[in-house]
Amino acid sequence: MNSPKDGQTSVSRSLQRIAIRTTGDIAIAVMTARSMARDIGLNEKDEFQVGTAVSELATNVVRYAKRGEVRLQVVERKGSAGLEIIVEDRGPGIADLDSALKDHFSTQDSLGLGLPSVKRMMDEFTMVSNVGQGTRATIRKWV
Ligand SMILES: Nc1ncnc2c1ncn2[C@@H]1O[C@H](COP(=O)(O)OP(=O)(O)OP(=O)(O)O)[C@@H](O)[C@H]1O
Ligand SMILES: [Mg+2]
Repeated sequence: MNSPKDGQTSVSRSLQRIAIRTTGDIAIAVMTARSMARDIGLNEKDEFQVGTAVSELATNVVRYAKRGEVRLQVVERKGSAGLEIIVEDRGPGIADLDSALKDHFSTQDSLGLGLPSVKRMMDEFTMVSNVGQGTRATIRKWV
């Protein structure tokens, strides 16, 4: 028999997709990420870092690619849970990804701290980008 708690857990464990185009969409992605982080038992600091990482990546999507998508899913590794988030767009792509991942590299006269801070805050961070095709970041945080 399903208790309401089981129902809630199964909803939070299914794949969530959020289309990203506006700052309001970014806020929804951040709230969803934080709520899923809490649900799987990540602590407050981890929850904050997951939210900040999603905010940085989704802000880049709006700024550089205009639109994209955030997908969030609970994953498992050796019996422990994690949150996996993919932020993807079909924008212009990044010509020099190595530089883009370093502190203070920006093509927009901004701080250039978004991507390096995502890298520092998450347990896993991979980014794939092809010029003219788009960019996909995958981040994970484990409980
Ligand atoms: N989704 C994307 N599509 C295309 N280019 C991107 C994307 N995300 C990042 N970039 C490129 O990588 C650079 C570094 O990104 P990063 O988020 O670290 O810094 P920023 O956005 O310039 O500044 P900040 O995030 O500190 O305000 C950007 O200036 C931009 O050239
Ligand atoms: Mg940025």
